[in-house]
This record gives sequence, structure tokens and C-alpha cells, in this order.
Amino acid sequence: MKALVIYTSKHGCTKQSATKLAETLEADLVDASQKTNVSLEAYDTVLIGSSVYAGQILKPISEFCSVNLKTLMTKRIVFFVCCGFENKALEIIDLTFPKELTSVALTKGYFGYSFKNLGFFEKMICKMIGAPIGETDIRLENIEKFAQTFM
Ligand SMILES: Cc1cc2nc3c(=O)[nH]c(=O)nc-3n(C[C@H](O)[C@H](O)[C@H](O)COP(=O)(O)O)c2cc1C
Repeated sequence: MKALVIYTSKHGCTKQSATKLAETLEADLVDASQKTNVSLEAYDTVLIGSSVYAGQILKPISEFCSVNLKTLMTKRIVFFVCCGFENKALEIIDLTFPKELTSVALTKGYFGYSFKNLGFFEKMICKMIGAPIGETDIRLENIEKFAQTFM
């Protein structure tokens, strides 16, 4: 199995999860916000991850999915997110990534959240919704078990 982990992350939480996932799978790792033109030819499995802001995944990863939709439909696909609402994570994946891909994905994962390193306006929003500013709960320990479910 040759795998690619591709992700976007605003403050590093999803980056940490994606990095651990790539290490576990001995996969290549790409930050979609840094590299827009990614060749998928070499991969049979593509793991796609993002964090969630205002109910949406980040733009570079949704653009990656739309631009490469046809090719991704020929691959083994896995989704993962980091977000504040654990009980909504799988629903968010189904609502925000393309249906053509979520309906055939091997599995979908949630790896926790981090509310650290926020900007002024982000802090204000988090205060309004009662989010735990300054707290982190990144579930790196779940990643090996998660990887075993589709390897
Ligand atoms: C301004 C703001 C809005 C957010 N909106 C949501 C949201 O709508 N749903 C959710 O589950 N989490 C939300 N979160 C939580 C982030 O998804 C979470 O902090 C995540 O770990 C950030 O990951 P990143 O560092 O990889 O960007 C929000 C966080 C911030 C700071």
C-alpha cells in the first residue's frame, strides 16, 4: 500500500494528527495549503484531513477534493477531522466533503481539538460559544488503532 496523507490546519492540531498518521502508515505527507498541484498517480490510498471552522472544512482541502474528484474516486479514501464538537465530527465529514467520496470512504476518523494560539477575533468567537480557550485534547494515541482498521 502506498499512501498519501493530505491535510490543512490553521493552528497545528490537524497537522500533528496528519504527521502521526503519515509516520504510522509510512505515507507521504502534504500540506494542501502549501502545495496545490499534487500528483496522485503513485498512491492507492489517500487520507484527507482538515480542521473545522464555523462548520466548514478549510478551503485548500475542499479545493483539493473538487479539483481531484475524478481521480480520488479511483483510490481508497479515508477522511479525518480535528474539531471542537466530537459528537458532530462524522456528520461534519459527511456534510462538508464531496458525497461521491464520503459514500465510498473506507473509514472516517476524529482526532480531537486544540484551542491554543488563537487570534483576538477567534478568542472572542470562542468566548461567545463557550469553547475551552487554551485547552488541547489531541488524540494521537488513537491513530495507530485507527490505521489498523484499513491497512
Ligand atoms: C473561530 C473558531 C471557530 C471554530 N468553529 C468550529 C466549528 O464550527 N465546529 C467545530 O466542531 N469546531 C470548531 N472550532 C474548533 C476547531 O476546529 C479546533 O480548535 C481544531 O482543533 C483546530 O485545528 P487546527 O489547529 O488544525 O486548525 C473552531 C475554532 C475556532 C478558533
